[in-house]
Amino acid sequence: MPTPSLRPFRVKVTKAYRTLGERGLITHSSGNVSLRVGEAILITPTGIPYYFLRPAQIVVIDKEGGVRGFGRPSSEWRVHVAVLRARPEVRAVVHTHSPYATAVACSLPSLPVLHDEGRIFFGGEIPVAEHAPPGTWELAQRAVAALGKGRAILLSRHGVLTVGKTLDEAVFLAEKVEEAAQLFLLSRDWRGP
Ligand code: 13P
Repeated sequence: MPTPSLRPFRVKVTKAYRTLGERGLITHSSGNVSLRVGEAILITPTGIPYYFLRPAQIVVIDKEGGVRGFGRPSSEWRVHVAVLRARPEVRAVVHTHSPYATAVACSLPSLPVLHDEGRIFFGGEIPVAEHAPPGTWELAQRAVAALGKGRAILLSRHGVLTVGKTLDEAVFLAEKVEEAAQLFLLSRDWRGP
């Protein structure tokens, strides 16, 4: 059977990355998105802002991170492949630096999820993975350990990581993590010291 064209999936990854920017979950070229299609992993390239990204610039890698074709994958490709290897049912990984969630990731060991809707998605808290430098296998290992069978984690002093069976799901969850962090920080202000 011929290999299905990756073009529609390149379009999906590009749209997902642009959506993150349009919703204020990333700025410029921060954050990254990956999607598993058979043996291939489509991932956003490093350093290209969401508003310039075109489907042809999406990079195709294998699960060891080897580039098929051309382009330079996100500097966070290790965390993407590590999560996809650890969770065979997951097809999409989204990483953002959304501000409220990242603020929590800079200061607390977990994000308490206060509102009932958030608890449906995440349970009572979203863990913060132990700190490791960006782009390293150490970060990838710590992210996989913190994620377990869950849907979202925070990366200490860094940002958010969500997973889904679809890209839409992973993007949706990234937005919901940010909402949970915003609600947590607002309610903390109002509760006083
Ligand atoms: P890339 O442009 O290499 O994907 O890096 C952005 C980022 O968010 C690093 O954490």
